[in-house]
Amino acid sequence: MYSLALLLCTAALAHNALAVKVCPKPPEVLFATISVVKNEYNVGEEVEYTCRPGFVPNNGLRKYICQPTGRWPLNTLLCLLTILLGQGQANACQMASGVESSHSVNVCAQIPENYSVTCAPPSLPEFGVLSYRHLKPGNISYFMDTIIFECVPPLALIGNETATCQANGTWSSIPECRAVTCPAPTGIENGFLNFAVRRTYHYNESVSFSCQSRYVLEGPKHIRCEKTGNWSPKPACKEPCKIPAKKAVVLYEGEKKRVQSDLKEGIMHGETISFYCKNKEKSCAYTVPVQCVNGNLTLPFCFKERGFFSSLVKTDPSNMKPCEDLK
Ligand SMILES: *[C@@H]1O[C@H](CO)[C@@H](O)[C@H](O)[C@H]1NC(C)=O
Ligand SMILES: *[C@@H]1O[C@H](CO)[C@@H](O)[C@H](O)[C@H]1NC(C)=O
Ligand SMILES: *[C@@H]1O[C@H](CO)[C@@H](O)[C@H](O)[C@H]1NC(C)=O
Ligand SMILES: *[C@@H]1O[C@H](CO)[C@@H](O)[C@H](O)[C@H]1NC(C)=O
Ligand SMILES: *[C@@H]1O[C@H](CO)[C@@H](O)[C@H](O)[C@H]1NC(C)=O
Ligand SMILES: *[C@@H]1O[C@H](CO)[C@@H](O)[C@H](O)[C@H]1NC(C)=O
Repeated sequence: MYSLALLLCTAALAHNALAVKVCPKPPEVLFATISVVKNEYNVGEEVEYTCRPGFVPNNGLRKYICQPTGRWPLNTLLCLLTILLGQGQANACQMASGVESSHSVNVCAQIPENYSVTCAPPSLPEFGVLSYRHLKPGNISYFMDTIIFECVPPLALIGNETATCQANGTWSSIPECRAVTCPAPTGIENGFLNFAVRRTYHYNESVSFSCQSRYVLEGPKHIRCEKTGNWSPKPACKEPCKIPAKKAVVLYEGEKKRVQSDLKEGIMHGETISFYCKNKEKSCAYTVPVQCVNGNLTLPFCFKERGFFSSLVKTDPSNMKPCEDLK
C-alpha cells in the first residue's frame, strides 16, 4: 500500500512538471460572484469578480489573470456592505491565497452579522392583482433591500407600498389590493360637476368642477376617489362683489372706471379696486385699495360718496393731484 501511494505521488509530480500549467478554481471572495466558474483555467485566462448586490468593492482588484505558474495572483478584493451598520457587527474573514502559498493572507471586513440574509420572493396570495418590482437590479433580495408593490388598476393598494428585507429573512409588510368605490359625487354651491355621470366611481377616478359665471373656483378643480372610499376635498365657488357706492370713479386694473357704468356687475372674488380719497388740507387725493372677498367689499373710511351738488361744483378726487407727488 505504502509503495503504491509513493509511486502515484511521484507520478503526479512528474506529470505536473511536464504538463501545460492550468489554474484551479479561483479563490472565493466573500460577498462576490465570479464571472466564469470552472474547475480549470488556462494560463492568461481572466476572471472578474463582482460584489453582490448591496456590497461594493473596496481596496482591491476585481480582475485576475491565470499565471504561467498555474496560480492566481494574490487576491486582494474586499466587498463591503454599502450600508455599515452601527449594531450587530462582526469580523468576517476570508483567506486570500496568492501566487505563493506563503503569501496567503487573512483579510477581514467589518460587516454586520446579518450580511448573508436573503428574503424569498414574497408570496402573493391574490390572483395576479398584486405585483412588485425590485429597487435594485437582480432577482435576489438581501438584507435591507426594498421592493415596491403595485396593484392592478382600479384596485387600491391598502398597506405599505414598500417592503424591506428584514434581518430574519422576512418582508417587513405585504399590502393587499382592494376594490374601492366612492358614491356619486355631490355638487357644490354656485358651481357644477363637469361631464359627470351619476354613478359610483372606482378608486383613483376623478371628476372636475366649474363655477357659475363670475364665481371664482378656489381649491382643486379635480377631486379623486380615495382609498378610504371618500372623495378628496371639493373646491368652492367664491362670490363676486357688488360695489357699495352709487357713483364713484375708481382705479380698476390700472384704469379709471366709473362704478355706475363700467363696474355695474361689480368685481370678482380676489380682485381689487382702489377708491380715491381727499386730503383737504393739502388739496390732493390718494388711493386706498380694497379687495373683494367672497362677496364682501368694504368701502374705505376716507371715501365720501359725492352728492349731486358737490359733484357739480367741486373737483372729483380722481382728478386732483396725487398726494405722493407733493413734497
Ligand atoms: C441583526 O440581526 C440580529 C438578530 O437577528 C438583530 O437583533 C439585529 O437587530 C440585526 N441588525 C440590524 C441592523 O438589523
Ligand atoms: C430572474 O429570474 C428569472 C427566473 O426566475 C430569470 O429568468 C431571470 O433571468 C432572472 N433575472 C436576473 C436579472 O437575474
Ligand atoms: C413602509 O415600510 C418602510 C420599510 O420598508 C418604512 O420605512 C416606512 O416607514 C413604512 N411606511 C409607512 C407609512 O408605514
Ligand atoms: C421577523 O422580524 C420582524 C421584525 O423584527 C418581526 O416583526 C417578525 O415577527 C419576525 N418574523 C419571524 C417569522 O420571525
Ligand atoms: C391615479 O391616476 C393618476 C392619473 O389620473 C395616475 O397618474 C396615478 O398613477 C394613479 N395612481 C394609482 C395608484 O393608480
Ligand atoms: C362677509 O360678510 C358677512 C356678513 O358681514 C360675514 O358674515 C362673512 O364672514 C364675510 N365673509 C368674509 C369672507 O369676509
